[in-house]
Amino acid sequence: MLEALLRHQKIVPVITLDRVEDAVPLAEALSSGGLNVLEVTFRTDAAAGAIQSIRDQVPAVTVGAGTVLTPTVLRAAETAGATFFVSPGATDALLSAADPSSFLPGVATLSEMMRAFDAGFRIQKFFPAEALGGTNFLKSVSAPLPQLQFCATGGIHEGNLADYLALPSVLAIGGSWMVPAGLIRTGDWDEITRLARRACSLAQVDLGSPVDGPVQATGSR
Ligand code: 3PG
Repeated sequence: MLEALLRHQKIVPVITLDRVEDAVPLAEALSSGGLNVLEVTFRTDAAAGAIQSIRDQVPAVTVGAGTVLTPTVLRAAETAGATFFVSPGATDALLSAADPSSFLPGVATLSEMMRAFDAGFRIQKFFPAEALGGTNFLKSVSAPLPQLQFCATGGIHEGNLADYLALPSVLAIGGSWMVPAGLIRTGDWDEITRLARRACSLAQVDLGSPVDGPVQATGSR
């Protein structure tokens, strides 16, 4: 499921919201710009409510949960209605609680990649991508670990996203550049739609094509 979603959309906005009421207009703005797979991070109290609102009110969008640090957060995200789950890292507890078809463990080293792969997770979040060496690091990893595929996030922007997506091991990229806090605060949804559309065009994503049908998922095994 995760693989199909990421292959289809290629760009995942990483969203942090302070106010639940911003969730629906933001999701609609991103969807109008062609971005229909969104990650809402569990970094604020608004996360669960935001996921629930998007899930209930913006059917074109598939919403996942980010910053899932523990199995408890995984269950909270599942209850809120998230369809996929993302973590900046991977603890043993998360690797045993989460389902590989809907969970992206964060990895930063080859040993972390191998450990997550051994636990069944072939698709992983490479984070923080730019700080770790970016596309050069990923090219080096693909020689010994050709089975792995990545969603790269951390430091990705309009100027480097195409370099990541050009790598066969990169299924998708994530980032927050199209959802800056200032634009969310002022409710500048048109500008967010413009940034989303620009990202799609740089990534050569088929504009406005939603993911097929509603996706149901459970995060836990
Ligand atoms: C994150 O988890 O913060 C994301 O990967 C976003 O990173 P960015 O803000 O550098 O795009």
